[in-house]
Amino acid sequence: MDIEAIKAKIDKEIESIDSSEALTAFRLKYLGRKGLIAELTKGIANLPSDQRASFGQEVNALKSKIISLITEKEKRLGSVKEESFARVDITLPGISRQLGHLHPLTQTINEICEIFSRLGFSIVEGPEIETEYNNFTALNIPLEHPSRDVFDTFYLKDKNKFLLRSHTSPVQIRVMKSRKPPLAVVVPGRVYRPDAVDASHSFMFHQIEGFLVDKGIRFSDLKGSLEVFAKAIFGEEIKMRFRPHFFPFTEPSAEVDISCIICKAKGCSVCGRKGWLEILGSGMIHPEVFKQVGYNPKIYSGFAFGMGVERIAMLKYGIDDIRLFFENDLRFLKQF
Ligand code: DAH
Repeated sequence: MDIEAIKAKIDKEIESIDSSEALTAFRLKYLGRKGLIAELTKGIANLPSDQRASFGQEVNALKSKIISLITEKEKRLGSVKEESFARVDITLPGISRQLGHLHPLTQTINEICEIFSRLGFSIVEGPEIETEYNNFTALNIPLEHPSRDVFDTFYLKDKNKFLLRSHTSPVQIRVMKSRKPPLAVVVPGRVYRPDAVDASHSFMFHQIEGFLVDKGIRFSDLKGSLEVFAKAIFGEEIKMRFRPHFFPFTEPSAEVDISCIICKAKGCSVCGRKGWLEILGSGMIHPEVFKQVGYNPKIYSGFAFGMGVERIAMLKYGIDDIRLFFENDLRFLKQF
């Protein structure tokens, strides 16, 4: 057999080997018990005696060559593995966990409640399903009042009893019936009205109700408290205006405006060129409401106010469409 031809064949073969399985097969083929080297070694005995020694040396040389080829290949296959491991760049930044945050409306509710907490108000919540009595009757809202209409309030099946509260004022009734004055409470929560949804209306929105009852509470207490609130949330430089208004549950009643924070009261599209922005309704609690909860209006007096959270947040952040709060678009929410 031509040893040189075998060497050439082996060189080619080893080059094409690219896996440890193929290398094992190669090893068996040449170095195995029935492999080529074993066969050649066996054949030595059949040679004429003068050729045995030199052929034996050639076979040995071939064997060494095969062994060194295998060793080299082993190393190379191993280092490929090492290399692919080394390709993981451990200095790259990791995949960071995305952190969420509170919804802008929740942030606004928290901010408003914190301001009133500092003034000594406690925070109370009430149910979103209310009785017609708490939502209207006890608040001195007459039977013929338009807000009682099915177009302005969501009634539940048993129309004469339950509804989705249309404001947070009914919590006044719940709190006053279960506690005695003095009390100062703010009530954040969802309210519902069957309004067609547009840039400034939503069938569900949030309000914060506030009220304070004690002996000798006057309109000036209401003004002072609301001034502290409005300046804390909109800035010390704003001006305030109390505009006479009507609410069935307060007397006298006022709507409160702040000077436009966009145009600094010069008149712009946000304030409708008026220079003023309405932020809430308020007044002195009506004696009829006190009678409904069993307080003597000759002994106690108090003030109440109610504001829309969306409206406050929209003014504060310059948001022009209420629907943005409810669409869960992260491009919007991430800005807060
Ligand atoms: N409940 C009123 C509304 O939803 C807001 C309001 C006005 C609440 C005057 C009050 C108040 O407590 O005194 O429009």
